Amino acid sequence: MKPRISLIVAVDSINGIGKKGKIPWHIKEDLVRLKNLTKGRIVILGRKTYESMVWYYDRSGRPMPAKLYIVITHDEEHKTARENVKTAHSLDEALENGQDEEVFILGGAQIFQQAIDMGIVDRLYLTQVEGDFNCDTFFPDYSEFKKVLSEKNGEENVIKYKFLVLEK
Ligand SMILES: NC(=O)c1ccc[n+]([C@@H]2O[C@H](COP(=O)([O-])OP(=O)(O)OC[C@H]3O[C@@H](n4cnc5c(N)ncnc54)[C@H](OP(=O)(O)O)[C@@H]3O)[C@@H](O)[C@H]2O)c1
Repeated sequence: MKPRISLIVAVDSINGIGKKGKIPWHIKEDLVRLKNLTKGRIVILGRKTYESMVWYYDRSGRPMPAKLYIVITHDEEHKTARENVKTAHSLDEALENGQDEEVFILGGAQIFQQAIDMGIVDRLYLTQVEGDFNCDTFFPDYSEFKKVLSEKNGEENVIKYKFLVLEK
C-alpha cells in the first residue's frame, strides 16, 4: 500500500518558517505535537533542518523521537554516528527508503517546495502562528489543501496559534 505522505510545518501569518537557520518562535505545545506525531515513525528532512534539529536535541539531552531520520543531501560523503539516521540524495530516494504507512516530511523550505511541486503530499499537519516573525525562509502556497480534518486554537507566552490538519 502506498504510504500516506504528510508534511509537518509551522508557519507565521505570511507563511514564514525560519530565520537564520532556526525557527523564530518557541511554542512548547508545538514541539510536543511534533514529538507525538513523529515518535516511532519515519521522517524525511533536508540537511539544514536535520542539523538544527540535532543541535536542539543535543542541547536538551532528549532522544530524537522518530525511528528513522532520512536526511537529504548532495554530499556523497555525508556521515552520522547516529544509528537511526540514513542519507538520501533526492526526495525520491528518501521515499523509496522510507516505506511505512505514514511518512513525515519535516522540511525545511527546499524539501517542502519539492514535495509540494511533485504533488505527492497527502496531508498537512499545520501550525499557524499569529504575527510576522521577519522570516527569511517561507512555506509554499498550500491553498489546494482545503479539507479541514481538525482544528484547535492555542496560546502560549502571548503567542496565538492554531493547529490544523488539512487534506486536498
Ligand atoms: N517552521 C517550521 O515548521 C520549520 C520546519 C523545518 C525547517 N524550518 C526552517 O527552515 C530553514 C531551513 O530550510 P532550508 O530550505 O534552508 O533547508 P533544508 O530544506 O532543511 O535543507 C536544504 C539542504 O537539503 C539538501 N537538499 C535539498 N534538496 C536536495 C535535493 N534535491 N537533492 C539533494 N540534496 C538536497 C541540500 O543539502 P546539502 O547542502 O548538504 O547538499 C540543501 O542544502 C531553517 O530556518 C529551519 O529552522 C522551519
